Amino acid sequence: MFRIDLSASDIAEAGALVASLAERYRTVEDPAFVREATIIAHELPRALRAGLLEFRLTEPHPLCVIGGYPIDDERIGLTPAHWKDCGGEGRPTLAEDLFFYLCASLLGDPIAWSTQQDGRLLHDVFPIKEHQYEQLGSGSEELLTWHIEDAFHPMRTDYVGLMCLRNPDGVNTTYGSLEGIDLPADVVEVLRQERFPIRPDRSHLAENRQNDGDEQLRRLRDRSYEWITGLDANPEPIAVLFGPQENPYLRLDPYFMEVPASDPEAAAALDTIVKAIDANIAGYALKPGEVLFLDNYRGTHGREPFTARFDGTDRWLTRLNIARDLRKSRAHRRSADDRTIY
Ligand SMILES: [Fe+2]
Repeated sequence: MFRIDLSASDIAEAGALVASLAERYRTVEDPAFVREATIIAHELPRALRAGLLEFRLTEPHPLCVIGGYPIDDERIGLTPAHWKDCGGEGRPTLAEDLFFYLCASLLGDPIAWSTQQDGRLLHDVFPIKEHQYEQLGSGSEELLTWHIEDAFHPMRTDYVGLMCLRNPDGVNTTYGSLEGIDLPADVVEVLRQERFPIRPDRSHLAENRQNDGDEQLRRLRDRSYEWITGLDANPEPIAVLFGPQENPYLRLDPYFMEVPASDPEAAAALDTIVKAIDANIAGYALKPGEVLFLDNYRGTHGREPFTARFDGTDRWLTRLNIARDLRKSRAHRRSADDRTIY
């Protein structure tokens, strides 16, 4: 993987920046902070900025890990029981949230989904008891099978950012890619065709439905839910590979994909790529303070199963979705600088 390790002076510099911001902003959701973040991010240590620029421009690996940011395990408090309990102002993780958001702002612009975690930009990822056996980031006992984030969605994120607040059991984040894999040319050709129906994953579906906001917002959100529910009933066929001839980009989430029996050639091609990526899966256990950016065009990710305790000591990550080009989703956002996709 591509690593950026912060030096002692980098840590001091970033810490001072974050401490001064924590006096001005009470949450990373503050629209003033969201607007300013891209500029403020240029006050981060130069080595960190240079490393993230290299990761963004040269695409050296699907994963980038930034190591060294210190976490005070006591100060951040207990792992919450539900994301509904911990959003907005007053988070004990404000410093970590600010640092993470600034790093993300060097890769692009964080985006929010109206259909996920009440439309927040910063998501929390920890085991939720009711989701224990679900195929969700908030599940635990089930393997979260590898996927491209929001693969069903044409405006899916370019990068998934994860910041580790605690991971006492060393639970592995899994990742896979086509690195070092030579798929037969005829398989690649089929995978580049729109023959692979995909359904939305559960995190966007109506179980998380929210009903607040003004009338326009409710209408937009309803439209979004309707589109996603419709896609669940009638999945749209997509191409699994796209982009460059060499090292093509990926778009797949096998758990939510079923190729109809009428297209055995596509089914065989999907099976071939799934097996090839399966054979190439690796794991990495994030350490507290580490920030991971996954290139959502180049690599898949998942999570190994674990047994949660639900006592405030479980694994806790925060997550950001980051777009390189906000304009791609302009028709689905309320204004040019609004970050929420409806
Ligand atoms: Fe994911």
